[in-house]
Amino acid sequence: MTRVLVLNGPNLNLLAAREAEVYGTTTLSDIEADLQVAAADMGVEVRCLQSNHEGALIDAIHAAREDCDGIVINPAAYTHTSVAIRDALLAAGLPAVEIHLSNVAKRESFRQRSLVSDVVVGTIGGFGPFGYRLALAALRHHLTGER
Ligand code: DQA
Repeated sequence: MTRVLVLNGPNLNLLAAREAEVYGTTTLSDIEADLQVAAADMGVEVRCLQSNHEGALIDAIHAAREDCDGIVINPAAYTHTSVAIRDALLAAGLPAVEIHLSNVAKRESFRQRSLVSDVVVGTIGGFGPFGYRLALAALRHHLTGER
């Protein structure tokens, strides 16, 4: 079975409470539960992890080399700052899909630079929680080479 690590970065544990006008009112637990249902339909196994700590995210990316086929990642604010997460994705060598709840291209200029976009298969953004389903489907599509 295809196995996917779903990683969420800093402050995403506060979804629903945090800037609801930007990020919506769905909690991260609800997003992860919905993703488990979608994953089961797709025949994919997902392991979800959220951390506010860069090193923990990097450790999880490294560990995925042992037992995962790909990664769905919302690096949150680290998207725009973390050379270390970019390097970890390159080091792991697993196909990854970057996802953002908001459309970062429509937001502040500092959010318009992603340090991971050019090392992932592709990026999904602007579709809120549904984006996680899209990201998982896109990664599965990439992994299976389906047309
Ligand atoms: C985010 C966008 C980032 O710019 C921001 O720092 C986040 C969330 C998103 O999902 O839209 O924390 O990654």
